[in-house]
Amino acid sequence: MDGNGRWATQRGRPRLFGHHAGAKRVREVIESCPDVGVEYLTIFAFSTENWKRTQVEVAGLMSLFRRYITKEARALHKFGARVRFIGDRVRLDAKLIKMMDDLEEMTAGNTRVHLTVALNYGGRDEVARATKRLALDVSKGLLDPDDVDEETLPKYLDTYVLPDPDLVIRTSGEARISNFLLWQSAYAEYEFIDTLWPDFSRAEFADLCAQYGGRERRFGAVKV
Ligand code: FPP
Repeated sequence: MDGNGRWATQRGRPRLFGHHAGAKRVREVIESCPDVGVEYLTIFAFSTENWKRTQVEVAGLMSLFRRYITKEARALHKFGARVRFIGDRVRLDAKLIKMMDDLEEMTAGNTRVHLTVALNYGGRDEVARATKRLALDVSKGLLDPDDVDEETLPKYLDTYVLPDPDLVIRTSGEARISNFLLWQSAYAEYEFIDTLWPDFSRAEFADLCAQYGGRERRFGAVKV
């Protein structure tokens, strides 16, 4: 969801104004998922690198996340969204963690849209944390090093219950992955679009999903 800061600056407003505008777009995208055939949606809300921003922006974003959960929890549940969070919770404040846990628990039985929010998430950090847990299992004798392969490692990732992404959309004209779902996106299709996140519309989302539907994916193989 990139481009909130620039969107606000273009309007002579503080960056947090852009994040608030960006939060409003999230609801629309979630609600259009069933119409465009998306069952799993993952949004990148805060990266492990985002702590480097000013204290004002970081605190403002954390407060926005708490407000977002308070305001949207019931609507998300009513809509049938199952909400999960990925990322390292250790650095987040206890109140926010409790709200995340409660939202996950409340929506645990929903299946209409699987919404995953990446919060204090970094792909490298995730792989490092997964490796640590895997090494611990090896040291306890629960896992044989000979059994560590492409099937085993993802079981230790935050996304272990989720399918790999088919399509990754990055807004705001930056053609970078920025540490998002590094392992999981090995075969994802990418769309880098110029639209700043607060301007991202249902129509654009639908167009990108339709274009994706027309692509041929070979996963390294040759079409026969
Ligand atoms: C990146 O834009 C955006 C973020 C770091 C925050 C995204 C958060 C929201 C949209 C709030 C909604 C959150 C939830 C959980 C629904 P940027 O600040 O890097 O923009 P810039 O590149 O223009 O500076």
